[in-house]
Order: sequence, then structure tokens, then C-alpha cells
Amino acid sequence: MSQTVSMDKIVAFCKRRGFVYQSSEIYGGIRSSYDYGPLGVEMKRNIKDEWWRSMVYARDDVVGFDSAIIMHPKVWEASGHVETFNDMLVESRSSGRRYRADHLIEEATGMEVEGLSPEELTRIIQEDERIKDPVDGGRDFTPVRPFNLMFETYTGPVKSPENVAYLRPETAQGIFVNFKNILQTSRVKVPFGVAQQGKSFRNEITPGNFIFRTREFEQMEMEFFVKPGTDEEWHEYWIEERYEWYLRLGMNPENIRKREQSDEERAHYATRGVDIEYNFPFAGWSELEGIANRTDYDLKKHAAYSGTNFTYTDQATGESFIPYVIEPAAGPDRMMLAFIVDAYTEEEVAGEKRVVLKLHPRLAPTKAAVFPLTRKEPVATIARRLYEDLRGDYRVFYDESGSIGRRYRRQDEAGTPYCVTVDFDTIEDRKVTIRDRDTLQQERIPIEGVRERLKELISG
Ligand code: GAP
Repeated sequence: MSQTVSMDKIVAFCKRRGFVYQSSEIYGGIRSSYDYGPLGVEMKRNIKDEWWRSMVYARDDVVGFDSAIIMHPKVWEASGHVETFNDMLVESRSSGRRYRADHLIEEATGMEVEGLSPEELTRIIQEDERIKDPVDGGRDFTPVRPFNLMFETYTGPVKSPENVAYLRPETAQGIFVNFKNILQTSRVKVPFGVAQQGKSFRNEITPGNFIFRTREFEQMEMEFFVKPGTDEEWHEYWIEERYEWYLRLGMNPENIRKREQSDEERAHYATRGVDIEYNFPFAGWSELEGIANRTDYDLKKHAAYSGTNFTYTDQATGESFIPYVIEPAAGPDRMMLAFIVDAYTEEEVAGEKRVVLKLHPRLAPTKAAVFPLTRKEPVATIARRLYEDLRGDYRVFYDESGSIGRRYRRQDEAGTPYCVTVDFDTIEDRKVTIRDRDTLQQERIPIEGVRERLKELISG
């Protein structure tokens, strides 16, 4: 990665190449909402598939799941979200702008204020003269108050308090409330996990940094149920497992780290939390994923609120207990930004500048591009047939317009790892050239072997 790449450059790049667009752009856009273009949707899907593959398909102790976004409102009372899923909000009376109090203080003073009460934050803002409204420099602030991040809506045609429902702020609760269903209908035994991917919603006071923090986003969460007493060991296991996953997908080890959450920043349900962070050039170390020990907090709360018994009995030992939960919780939108930043490279090749997205082949939106050197026959038809033979399992791109150099550059920018060129010699020797995006090395192989060779290279 070029460490100096700015957010503006990444945003412009993502738009220009069809990764991410501002949502509702023709109406001036809506803050914090983004749409994924043809390349972006492929890349995000690849990230989600890689996660699913390693968390579900490659294991025999994890099953998949997909719960509703709108659940019974009691779920969120029991989980503690109605009461405690708050950010601290402060308003500037001079500009009318609202801020997250902790961000305002931390940015002006460098103080760590996570976990402080509204009263303590109000006192700091009133006393510390360095804290000013970033818009107009004013110091006339309202008292700090908690602001619940859940989006409220109503089910049915009547907007009355008894019809209030919430858009889920995490996917995890859908798994907890189905614990018994899953246990009874699949042959899982503790320790086992349940994995889910899907949209979550949070009415963030200050969304920002492009797709890093938005109000609508996706999560990939896995709740791993274990016997109490084995939880710390399993927590360590999942921290390592998840960290290695990023490295396996080519993330630069210098840009990724594990960080222990402080007592103040930990979620209300966790006894320990470790974040996997990425060093964004424009925002510094920021969370990509959190791995928490949620203990038996959620199952116990749902047992108390619903009257359901979540006791698990180990058939082999006869022991009964409420399982503890280890939860790796990640976000594919954030990850996509990190993988793009990590892969974005500007370099000079043979005296020419090129932008290249050095994505792991498994994450690359397009796996291969096929070029005929010329539009003349039979070269074009051979290339077209090769393209038709390759497409189907993944995205392949066919391009016959412009110089070959220009066609390579477009694919380098899109992160396409392999370009296959059909030339005049192909007519005689039935061989084509495969060019590697990063090393620029070319290998010439029989046209019949391309499909197999690409499969080998991509999964390699
Ligand atoms: N169930 C635990 C949980 O929700 P979290 O740390 O609040 O934990 C997990 O969220 C992951 O979801 C984060 O690490 C991040 O990748 C993603 N995420 C959370 N809020 C987000 C937001 N506003 N925009 C984009 N991604 C977000």
C-alpha cells in the first residue's frame, strides 16, 4: 500500500472504477449511505464468501443461520440494548450541530473518556476551554445526554407505542433467541458455533470515513457456545484464528494488530474484548472486528425475560450448564475499505506510472480478463470462445477495445489478477499468454489448460 493515500483519493477511485457510489447521488446524496457498484458488489461478496468458507464450510463445529431484521421488541429489552446501547450526545447552541461528546473531547484534548457518565462529560466540556464547536469555535454546549442508537419503527398501520419495533443493531441476538431451535434441529454439541451474515442498523451520531462507519451496514458474526471454564481458552483460539484469516487473505502484517479493549470501552455484555484493528492512513488504528467473551449474559437474560430454559446437558458427562459465548464480530464494509487501502498501489513500470490494486485473487472482483490482441479473425473468435468457456464460476471480463497496454492498465486498477491474451501465434500453436498483475510475468500455456491453470492460481 502507498501509506500516504488519502481518503479523497480512495473515495474518487472507488467511484471511478465502480466499487462504491454515494447513495441517492442525483438528489445530492444522503449522508452515510453508500451503494456498491459492479466491482464493489463482487468484492464484498467475495469477502463474505471467504468468511463463510472459513467459519462454516471448513469446520464441523459451526452451522449457518439467517434471522429476521425486525424481531420482537422484548429481544432488545432483554439484551440490554434499549437501556444501554447509547452514545453520549452534546449539542452546540451556536451552530445547532450535534456531536458525540467523547469524540469532541478526545479530538480537542487527547483525553480518553470512554465510559464516563453524562454528568462527568458535561463537566469536562464546560471546564476545558480547548473544547470548541469545530464549526464555529463556540463554547455554548447543552448538557450531555445518552442517545439510543437503535432505529425505531412501527409494525402495522398504527404508529402507537405498543407497535414500536427496532431494526436490529447486531445480528447476534437472532442467534441467541434461536439457541434451542438450533440445538433441537441440528446435531450440534457444545462446543459449537452459529454463524450469520446480514444487515444491521445504528443511528450513529457521527458516521464517517466513507464506508467505515455508516448507519446501515453488514455484519458477519459467529456465536460460539462453550462450557463455562473453557471460555478463556476458546477466546484465545478465536482471536488467533481471526487474526490469521486476514493474513491469509494477503493483508500486510504491519497494518494489522490485535488490541485489548479497556474496561471502559467494553460492551455491557462482555468480560473481555480484543479488537483486530487496521492502520488506516487517514484515521489511524481502527477496529475491523471485535472478539468478545459474552459469558452467559445473553442466554441468561433471554431465559429470564422469556421463561425459556437454556440449560444445556452434556450427554456424555451428564453435566448441565448455561453455555458461555465467544463471539468474533466483523463488518465486511469496513473490511472492504481496509483491503482496498492495503492493496492500492501507485508504481512505475518501465517508465510508466500505473495504479494497481494488489488484491488477493480470492477477493478480486474480476478473476481474469481475456483479450484478443486484434479484432481480426480468427483471433477475436478464439478469444471470445475462451471467454465463454471460462465464465460461469466467477466474473471474467472480455475486452477487445484499445491498445493492449491500456487494457492491462484498466484491469490492474480493477485488481484483476490475471489477463489472458490471444495473439496471432495462437492460431498456429493453440497457446495463450497469462500475465500476472503483480509480477508482470507471463506464461504461455495451451488454450485447453487455461481453465485449470486459473483455478490453481486463484485458489493458491
Ligand atoms: N455483536 C457484537 C457487535 O455488534 P460491534 O463491535 O459493535 O460488536 C461488530 O460490531 C463489527 O460490526 C465492527 O467491528 C465493525 O466491523 C462492524 N460495525 C459496527 N458498527 C458499524 C458501522 N456503524 N458501520 C460499519 N460497520 C460497523
